[in-house]
Amino acid sequence: MTVKREQVLIEALPFIREFYDSIMVFKIGGSTMSDRTVLEDFVQDVVLLRYIGIHPIIVHGGGPEISRAMEKFGKKAEFVGGLRVTDRETLGIARMVLLGSINAELVNLIGKYGGKGIGLSGQDGMFLKARKKAPLKMEGMQPVDLGFVGDVDRVDPEILMIMAGKGYIPVISPIAADDEGNNLNVNADTVAGAVAVAMRAKKFFSITDVEGVRLKPDDPSSVISEFRASDFDRLVAEGVISGGMIPKVEACVRVVRGGVEKAHIIDGRKHHAILLELLTQEGVGTMISRS
Ligand SMILES: Nc1ncnc2c1ncn2[C@@H]1O[C@H](COP(=O)(O)OP(=O)(O)O)[C@@H](O)[C@H]1O
Ligand SMILES: [Mg+2]
Repeated sequence: MTVKREQVLIEALPFIREFYDSIMVFKIGGSTMSDRTVLEDFVQDVVLLRYIGIHPIIVHGGGPEISRAMEKFGKKAEFVGGLRVTDRETLGIARMVLLGSINAELVNLIGKYGGKGIGLSGQDGMFLKARKKAPLKMEGMQPVDLGFVGDVDRVDPEILMIMAGKGYIPVISPIAADDEGNNLNVNADTVAGAVAVAMRAKKFFSITDVEGVRLKPDDPSSVISEFRASDFDRLVAEGVISGGMIPKVEACVRVVRGGVEKAHIIDGRKHHAILLELLTQEGVGTMISRS
């Protein structure tokens, strides 16, 4: 059966009513942003949401681009537990790529589609404070010092509230400030989760390059459509979740425990996945709920 266009539009009404005037945080993964059409689709979706009364906040990553830039400087990217080992030089490269390139491009694109984007990172208004992460202990390994990698200490919602309240779309780079005037590289999902909690967001989305959380890491058809926050430790212990999926699901768990209604991990490669998830009855990706 073909669905008429007007049916699709009217189907959105209850969702638009429910989400009107609410804050939503969208984390877009570095892995998704290298595809130009994917990126443009994402930005169009976010601008559309702004125009129907939702207040979107974007947090972006930059994994593959940072790794490519490191290579140009003759450095090899290294990850432990899904987190980048960050020496002083790597931090400089990460800042350059995140702030100078990715953030600026997202803000540009928002403007292209008629929105008002504002780029910022942790030092701006000191809204995002972090603490150097303690050396990471992994099974069967000596503790690893990750260098200039932080854990979020505090998110001050004020500046974001002001911007969102005036109709701007904040675009956040995951570089945080510490108390000594240093910068720290923080995983973008971790930042996005902390922002969602501080902003009392209604929903949290992490947009990535897989269909969702797979039960069998190599099998795209094994996506889990929904699980509870309390299942997280077991899924990591069983090896189901690994690499970059660890901080991602961990962020979702913190978000729902911190009062956000629902967290979603969705496939950025699927065109307009956000609109489908938010404004139709179709569920996409993996949804994480509190209980
Ligand atoms: N159970 C799992 N289901 C899906 N992806 C997984 C799983 N475990 C590990 N991964 C890996 O996590 C990756 C997503 O994390 P990451 O590379 O950090 O992406 P992003 O740039 O979106 O943060 C996937 O591409 C996949 O390789
Ligand atoms: Mg990641």
